[in-house]
Formats: sequence, C-alpha cells, structure tokens
Amino acid sequence: MTERTLSIIKPDATRRNLTGRINAMLEEAGLRIVAQKRTRLTVDEARAFYAVHKERPFFDSLVTFMTSGPVVAQVLEGHDAVSRNRGVMGATNPDQAADGTIRRVFAESVEANSVHGSDSPDNAASEIAFFFSARDIIG
Ligand code: CMP
Repeated sequence: MTERTLSIIKPDATRRNLTGRINAMLEEAGLRIVAQKRTRLTVDEARAFYAVHKERPFFDSLVTFMTSGPVVAQVLEGHDAVSRNRGVMGATNPDQAADGTIRRVFAESVEANSVHGSDSPDNAASEIAFFFSARDIIG
C-alpha cells in the first residue's frame, strides 16, 4: 500500500554534509522525497517531538543533541513506506544495524544515529503534521 512516513536527518549527519548521500540511499530503497525542509529545532520543539521518551534516562541528552545543529525533515512516500524506511535506516543502535543500512554506514552512536523514522502509520501521520502542512507535500 502506498504510504507516507516522516524522516529526519539528524544533526550528526548534517554536520558531516551527508544529506545527499542519505537521500540517495532512501531513493535507492524505493522511497520518494515528497516534502523536505532544513530547519533547526528549538528545545521546546524537540521535547514535544520526543515526548513519548520523556521518562527515559537519555531524554535530556537526546533533546540537547537534536537541537545542536540543523536537521532535515522529510516526508517519504512509497509502498509500505514506514517499514521500508525502517529497513533502510537499520536498528537504532548502529552496532546492531544490518550491513548497508544508513545507521550502519553513517551513525556515530546510539544517540547520534543520523536518521529518525516513524515507527507506525499512526505516528507517521502525527509526525508529518508536526513539520508539514498538506500543501507542503507534493506527491
Ligand atoms: P530515534 O529513532 O529518533 O528515536 C529516539 C531516539 O533516542 C533514537 O533515535 C536515538 O537518537 C535516541 N536513543 C535511543 N536509545 C538511546 C539510548 N539508549 N541512549 C541514548 N539515546 C538513545
């Protein structure tokens, strides 16, 4: 089923000028970038985006990291886009990510893991709405 998901290229990756190489991996995996925006999250925005993790011990560090530089928010479209994107991203911890995945190739650590991707279609819808309005998305 054609689906959309929210992707974020994180500050560790923008700092190393990896946006184009990551986008090429997303496109080679069959995903289309139908909206894209470079932005810098405020602390309040990062806390809101990751609110589901607010009780985790890594929450404050995650917010500091996600506000440490630019991010590139994207809407990806394709067949089973949520799981397709999670496949090309690889596991959260790069040491456990499969060979050839974005996190295996580029991530610096479990925190600075280069990309975020929505984990379900429901979360994709709310995460897309966090960054984009309907008219920003050109399929
Ligand atoms: P992401 O897929 O964006 O979802 C939550 C983020 O929290 C995750 O990627 C990592 O950047 C970070 N994260 C997850 N687990 C840990 C951990 N154990 N220690 C530090 N950061 C983590």
